[in-house]
Amino acid sequence: MSSPGEDRTAPADDAECEAQRPLVNATHPSSARVYDYLLGGKDNFATDRSAADRIEEAFPAIRIGALENRRFLLRGVRYLAAEAGIRQFLDIGTGIPTSPNVHEVAQEIVPEARIAYVDNDPVVLAHARALMVSDPRGSVGYLDADIRAPEAIVGSDLVHTVLDFKEPIALILSAILHFIPDEERPEEIVRTFIEALPPGSYVLASHVTPEHEPRLRPASAAYREDGVRTRPRTAGEFERLVFAGRGLDLVPPGVVLVSRWRRGPAEPPAPTPAEVSAYGGLAKLPG
Ligand SMILES: C[S@@+](CC[C@H](N)C(=O)[O-])C[C@H]1O[C@@H](n2cnc3c(N)ncnc32)[C@H](O)[C@@H]1O
Repeated sequence: MSSPGEDRTAPADDAECEAQRPLVNATHPSSARVYDYLLGGKDNFATDRSAADRIEEAFPAIRIGALENRRFLLRGVRYLAAEAGIRQFLDIGTGIPTSPNVHEVAQEIVPEARIAYVDNDPVVLAHARALMVSDPRGSVGYLDADIRAPEAIVGSDLVHTVLDFKEPIALILSAILHFIPDEERPEEIVRTFIEALPPGSYVLASHVTPEHEPRLRPASAAYREDGVRTRPRTAGEFERLVFAGRGLDLVPPGVVLVSRWRRGPAEPPAPTPAEVSAYGGLAKLPG
């Protein structure tokens, strides 16, 4: 894991890529690779698979929850591009590419859309090239940085090259804030991002919750034993953490289980709340 404040942009050529790429730690699980495995991806190691298997032993529906979170994220991006008129996205905690990615969904609707991706996992950085294939009419950039250094992200040249902070931006915090324990002051991190957003911007976020499934806690404990700390939060804690400040106005239906957020009629029936165990919401800053 890179340290907070590190600011490595996606490299321009292979040589630079090798020189800048940090060593991937294959002996300890990473949240990006565990999530990739849960979603059926191939960019993971034995240590990630065994960590995911231990989580799944405690909480057998974990893959359903991961898929529902991903569906929520993409529904939210579609809403932002198609209905809210958003053209710019700042996606923190991007994850290993999982098609379709945020830029693919946004640029299918608005080819000129501009997306700045941010993550601190070396495997995500290694795939930055795949992430960065933008529609020529739009723009996509990738920044290797830690959410716990929000000033470095909102002040980075890369982010300002891709995004125009005079126009509305959708800040995406999908399935990342539960990796920030209370002692790392997640509310200050979120506030720094939200204060940097121009008027009329949006905030989309999702978060694991312990409220519907008692087995979430042993699953979280198993993950912690493998070195990944998580802090599941209740709906109230999540709403206060992300959506309480700067006059944010929640888009209906508000903070709900990710499976219930504007689920389309063509989608399969929603799994149970216990299986989903994650809340999501989307809110607008005053314009
Ligand atoms: C569960 S994945 C979510 C991926 C994607 N946002 C989604 O919802 O499908 C969490 C991502 O957050 C990233 N992450 C975790 N802690 C981070 C940190 N401190 N700074 C930046 N990224 C972080 C991980 O590397 C991983 O890619």
